[in-house]
Amino acid sequence: MTDTELRVSKIQNGTVLDHLTAGEALHVLAMLGIDGSGGEAVSLGMNVPSDRLGRKDVVKVEGRELSDSEVEVLSLIAPDATVNIVRDYEVVAKRRVERPDEVSGVLTCPNGECITNAGEPAEPTFEVLDDGLRCEYCGDILRDDVTAHLADAPQSP
Ligand code: CTP
Ligand code: ZN
Repeated sequence: MTDTELRVSKIQNGTVLDHLTAGEALHVLAMLGIDGSGGEAVSLGMNVPSDRLGRKDVVKVEGRELSDSEVEVLSLIAPDATVNIVRDYEVVAKRRVERPDEVSGVLTCPNGECITNAGEPAEPTFEVLDDGLRCEYCGDILRDDVTAHLADAPQSP
């Protein structure tokens, strides 16, 4: 992206989540448990033009290098995401997100009868399949409506 096209300032140190599915930036922040309360500077661009994707979202978190395990959940809603680690204004690492085998604590089970929805200390855990997510407790499958089942209190990193 050229400087004339740059909509969100470059960051000095931190993480740039790029090529996020357009419109998903707020869900991405919710999944990562980033709500500004940590005091870090967070900037985001939604529906910005992208050569590769047409439109994309971008999230920049200043002063925090997000780990692979923190960002892998993003693959569920933003499979094309690129994670860039920035130090002293330079991108020092760039990688694609990979689908985890399992996710815990990030999503709630769609089955109202599931023990994870009964106020018990059972952390909702899903096995990641090619075409959905299977609840470890009741076997229910969560397919397209992942963002509708974001847990209120995401797992802390
Ligand atoms: N970026 C930033 N602050 C920096 C360096 C980079 O915010 N100090 C952002 C860029 O704006 C871009 C992303 O991090 O959104 C990746 O930067 P870079 O690798 O330089 O850009 P591209 O080569 O366009 O990336 P890609 O090939 O992944 O599309
Ligand atoms: Zn369940």
